[in-house]
This record gives sequence, structure tokens and C-alpha cells, in this order.
Amino acid sequence: MVVLGIESSCDETGAGLVENGRLLGHAVASSMDEHARFGGVVPEIAARAHVHAVGPVVRAALSDAGLGLRDVSAVAVTTGPGLSGALHVGVAAAKSYAYSLGVPLYGVHHLAGHVAADTLEHGPLPNPCVVLIVSGGHTSLLLVRDLARDPIIHLGDTLDDAAGECFDKAARVLGLPYPGGPAIDRAARDGDPRAIPFPRPMTGPRDDPYAFSFSGLKTAAARWAEHHPGGHVPDAAASLQEAIADVLTRKALAACREHGVRDLVVVGGVAANSRVRALAEERCAAAGIRLRVPPLRLCTDNGAMIAAVGDLLVRAGARPAPLDVSIDPSAPLERAILAPAA
Ligand code: KG4
Ligand code: ZN
Repeated sequence: MVVLGIESSCDETGAGLVENGRLLGHAVASSMDEHARFGGVVPEIAARAHVHAVGPVVRAALSDAGLGLRDVSAVAVTTGPGLSGALHVGVAAAKSYAYSLGVPLYGVHHLAGHVAADTLEHGPLPNPCVVLIVSGGHTSLLLVRDLARDPIIHLGDTLDDAAGECFDKAARVLGLPYPGGPAIDRAARDGDPRAIPFPRPMTGPRDDPYAFSFSGLKTAAARWAEHHPGGHVPDAAASLQEAIADVLTRKALAACREHGVRDLVVVGGVAANSRVRALAEERCAAAGIRLRVPPLRLCTDNGAMIAAVGDLLVRAGARPAPLDVSIDPSAPLERAILAPAA
């Protein structure tokens, strides 16, 4: 059963083909460059770019896999969360493919896609595992069992900004280009991570051990920029990156320890951050915890990860979505599948 996955929740149009946990081929187009001069994703521009990209991207993924549309046995699509105009384009395309091919359609939660991305590189997820999901819009610590069958348990979430949002907004006040995460990662290479003592929010003895808060860190970066015009930006970038990586990995390891879980999976766009990866590796090695992080190309938004969830759902015998399934732009992460048929 070859599953075609389609992703269009933000500024990447992705398509991927997965069969039995194996990635057969994928392609991604990004409208990122069109948003750069606005300093952030413009929803209407993203939606229009998806309209232009989705057909070619699906064809590119098929050709990457050496397959044709006739080989597709099921279609999975991100139905939420994300930008509504952008989601509509992917869902409309997925419905057309599923209907015209006469194959089942599955609505998938975008964040479950990020989790499943890792299976394409490292095989089935250990059950249970602790998942740290860090993207542009979400930051959560999860306890994941069978991703296709079991509800996902939230150990903690961010109370305000997501880690990626903090990178993006801090980059802006530091005068670095959009998207901010990769820009801070690059600038930090020439900086001293101990130069500026940025706070470590929510790590006090009375704080929720698994909850996050990044808006104060964003403000601290803005204040630093304000008080140090002409200050050494690489030092600020390195120090901020260190604070974020420290808080994320500290809490993820505490969750593993306190829940007796031996496997940590770090996923989402911010899992591409070099310091987050290095510090997670260092701390997991010290604690005897196995760490899994997807390769860079599977960390940021892509269609393969949605196909990976679809493939898990197909193999778990999940009920497909009705053809009138719609989007859910603010869907909470409760299960990998969104809106199955009643
Ligand atoms: O998962 P993702 O591609 O999209 C969402 O679902 O949000 O994550 C995008 C986020 C952005 O905030 C971006 O700045 C961040 O991931 N990001 C990074 C890096 N690469 C992407 N943050 C820090 N360091 C990176 N190398
Ligand atoms: Zn994402």
C-alpha cells in the first residue's frame, strides 16, 4: 500500500510517498522567499503559492519515487493545525486525488506528522517514548505510545510563545533575516554562548517541570538589543540559542527520568538547531537515554511525514475520513488522525 502524503499548513508545499514505514520519494516547494521581505509568513501569499505548487510537487514526489499516480493506494493530508487558506489548498488537492483514484483519504494532525518523520529514518517509534516537539507554532513534551492507535499524552506545553517563534522574533530584534531560527543558528557560530546571561524561564523549583514559556526570553533579547546598539550580535544569538537549548533539553530529560522512559525523540523545525541537537545528545548520553532526531530535511515541514502517519493509520486499520472532511486550523494534538468517518 503506497500512501501519498500532502502537507500545506504553512509556507511549505510537501508531497511524499511511503510504504510500510519506508520513504519511497518526496518533494518540497517553499514560498519562504516570498515572505522574507514581510518578516513573516503572509497567509494569502502562502495559500496562493500552494495552489501553484501542489500539482508539480506531487508529480515531483512521484517521479522521485519512480512511481505513477496509479500506484497510490491511499492519500493522507494535513487537515490542521495551520493557516486556514493554506490548509484548504492541500485538503482540496488530496480529496481530488483520493476521489479520482478511488482510494481512501486520511486527515492527519500536522504535529503527529513531525513525530512520524523520525520513523522514516530510524524505524518504528519505541513504545513508550517521550517526544519533545519544537516547531514555529508549538512546543510540547509528549508521552507517545502507539502513534496510530493511542491518544497522545501532553506532559507539558508552552504557556505563551513556541520555541521557534522565540527564535524568529528574537532574530528580528537582532536584525537577522527571516526565518530567524536558521539565521540565529548561523550567527551563533561566531558567538560566545556565555556572553549574555539570558534567563532560563520556568526552571524554578516551584515551576511546572514540563511547561515552557518563551515570551520573556524574546523580551530579554529585545531589551538587550535596545540597550546595546551596535552590540555583538553573534554573542546575543549564541547566548539566546544556549538558553533555549538548555531549557528544552533539561525538561525533556526530566520527563524521561520521572516517567521511567528510556527513549527521547526530538522533532519539529527547531530540532534542526545545531545546539539543540548537540546538547540533547550530550545530556542523553550522560543520562543513558537513547536519543532520536530526524535528519535535517525531515525536521522542517514536508509531505513525507504526513505520508508516514497515513501509512501507520492504514496499517493500524484506521477509519478513513469522509470526502466532506474539512480543515481544523487550531486542532489540539490528541491523536494522529483528525476527523475520521463517524
Ligand atoms: O516545524 P516547522 O518547519 O514549521 C511549523 O510547523 O511551525 O518549524 C519552523 C520553525 C521556525 O520557527 C524556524 O525558525 C525554526 O523552526 N527553525 C529553526 C532552525 N531551523 C528551523 N530554529 C532554530 N534553529 C534552526 N536551525
Ligand atoms: Zn511543522
